[in-house]
Parts: sequence; structure tokens; C-alpha cells
Amino acid sequence: MKTVLSGIRPTGNLHLGNYYGAMVNFLRMQEENQCYFFIADWHSLTTHPDPRLLHVNVRNILSEYLACGLDPEKATLYIQSDVPEIAELYLLLNMHAYLGELEKTVSFKEKARQNPGNVNAGLLTYPVLMAADILIHNADYVPVGKDQEQHLEMTRNYANRFNHKYQVDYFKLPTAYSSGQELIKIPGLDGSGKMGKSEGNCIYLVDEPKAIEKKVKSALTDNGPEAPNTPKPVCIENLFTLLKIVSAPDVVAYYDNLWVSGATKWYGNLKKQLAEDIINVTTPVRERINDLKNDDAYLRKVTRNGAEKARESAGKTLREVREIMGFKSF
Ligand code: TYM
Repeated sequence: MKTVLSGIRPTGNLHLGNYYGAMVNFLRMQEENQCYFFIADWHSLTTHPDPRLLHVNVRNILSEYLACGLDPEKATLYIQSDVPEIAELYLLLNMHAYLGELEKTVSFKEKARQNPGNVNAGLLTYPVLMAADILIHNADYVPVGKDQEQHLEMTRNYANRFNHKYQVDYFKLPTAYSSGQELIKIPGLDGSGKMGKSEGNCIYLVDEPKAIEKKVKSALTDNGPEAPNTPKPVCIENLFTLLKIVSAPDVVAYYDNLWVSGATKWYGNLKKQLAEDIINVTTPVRERINDLKNDDAYLRKVTRNGAEKARESAGKTLREVREIMGFKSF
């Protein structure tokens, strides 16, 4: 049996990028593997969230995880800050993470450029904390979107470096996992490359149908194909990427043929169809989210059981890592 691990930062509600990038295979995975799904609340601290909102955001993601069909009886569902063993492994791994490589991380450079007034040490060592999340359960597979690819590569480096340094074959080298061959990047509706919370271009699982219709309607388009058989510009390619994910293949083929033929004035219909198909996917999830969000007793039970199970596995790893590194008790 393989170990699968997946994490999400609680910085807002879940959007289609999270869902299709990392979560869409959860249902199948939890049947066949040892799964750890967690809420990365420590990771969200790099941007200094309002303490009054942190818990609300954790509650939202937790209800959304459960509403997507994650079964706490089959998978271990927990909150990162409930598992202190992760923080200790983070400290130990930090000794093997070098400034030069951390400074070169794409996500660090991007965040430092966007917000030069808040280049904190947590931001710099973000990939080390992520490696600790993954290695604490010695995961084989990590379902992630394309944006996390480099972090996974760094995790493999740290695992490898640890094994090499201490002459052991202890940590596995985890693999980024997605449903297809390639890691997925769900595009935004604003013609930008990626759907993301900080990009402000998301369709959320909790969005009401009217809001989804409005967002899709206002998606960036062009004036239509200039001639038959021309390549699609990015904004149109983005709409097709979403269509391929939520709609039936014959629907995609129908609109693709319209593009290839050079016909114009069909974007309105495509957007209507796209909105309808997104609503079909999100409606059952949204209804379950709303039921779960206020069930305090259930959420408490899920997180307590999850923390207990996660700490059991994390404690075992940490004891072994300490031993390998030379910590001994008197
Ligand atoms: P986060 O919270 O930004 O996103 C959670 C997951 O959603 C994926 N994702 C996307 N996939 C495809 N297209 C998109 N537009 C898109 N937007 C988001 C992300 O790739 C991610 O898989 N550092 C992580 C959280 C984390 C983690 C971990 C993940 C912390 N520790 C250990 C895996 C393993 C993050 O910020 O993801």
C-alpha cells in the first residue's frame, strides 16, 4: 500500500484550481492507499493573517475537504498545527537546507518581489516546512498542481541529502502526482495563466450558480478566430482547458470545430455551457459544505481523531530520525 499526502493552505475558500489540481482523485485514492490530507495552517502564516480569520479559514477548508467526499474513516484528515512533530522535523531539516538554493526558489522570488516589505524567514524556508509535512509520513505520492512542482523537487533533494549524510536508506523520494502524465494548471478566467487566490480570478466551490454565471460571462475573450485553422490565443485556450475538464467530450469537440471553421459569434453559447457544467460539478459540493460548516461537534471529532492518527505516524518517524541523527536519551 502506498502513502499519499496532500495539503492546502487555509487562506480562503477552495477553488476549481485546488479541486482539479490536487483533490479530484481523493475519492479513488482514499480507497486504495494510506492517505494523509491536511490543512497547512502554519504555511499560511507567512502573510500574517488576521488571527480572527485564521480559524474561520481552517473551518472552511475542513468543511470543503469533507464535502468533496473525503472520508475521515478511510483517510487521516488533520490540521498541521495539531501535529508538533512536523515542527521538530522542520527544525532538523533546516540544518540541511542551504541559503543559496532557498533564495533561488521560484515561489520565494515571486513573493519577495510582490511584497518586498515582508520577506520573512518563514517565507524563505517555506519549502523546508513543506518537505517536513511530506517526509513526516514518508509519503510516496503527493497530489499537487503544477505550481508545487519545484517544492516537490526540493523535498526529494532534502530526503536524498539526509539519506546520504547519515548513510541510511530512510526517507523515500516522493513523487508529485496528478491524474494524467502532466501536473495540471487550471487557468484563470481573466486570461492569466493560473487560477489562484492571490490572483483574484477564482471560481470557488461555494460560489452560488448566479455568481458562477456572472464570472464566466465576464471571462476575457477576443473578437473570434480571424481565419479558419488559426492557433487559439491564451484567453480562448484557457476557456477550452476549463471546458475539457468539466464538460463532455462531444461538447468540447463541437466548440473546437467552431473555432477551427473560423466561425464567429459563439463565445456567448460556449460561456453559457461552461457555466452550466461548472455549476453541475459544484452544486452538490456546495450544498454539503453548507451543511457541514456549522456542525461543530462533527468537525471537533474529525480533527481530534485525525490529529491522533497523524501524530502516531509522525511520532514514529521523528523517533527514528532522532535516532539516526544521534539523539539518545539517558
Ligand atoms: P495551495 O494552498 O496554494 O494549493 C493547494 C493545492 O491546489 C493546487 N492548485 C492548483 N492546481 C492547479 N491549478 C491551479 N490553478 C491551482 N491552484 C492551486 C496546488 O498545486 C496545491 O496542490 N504549499 C502548498 C500547501 C502545502 C502542501 C504541503 C501541499 C503545504 N505543505 C505538502 C502538498 C504537500 C500550497 O500553498 O498549496
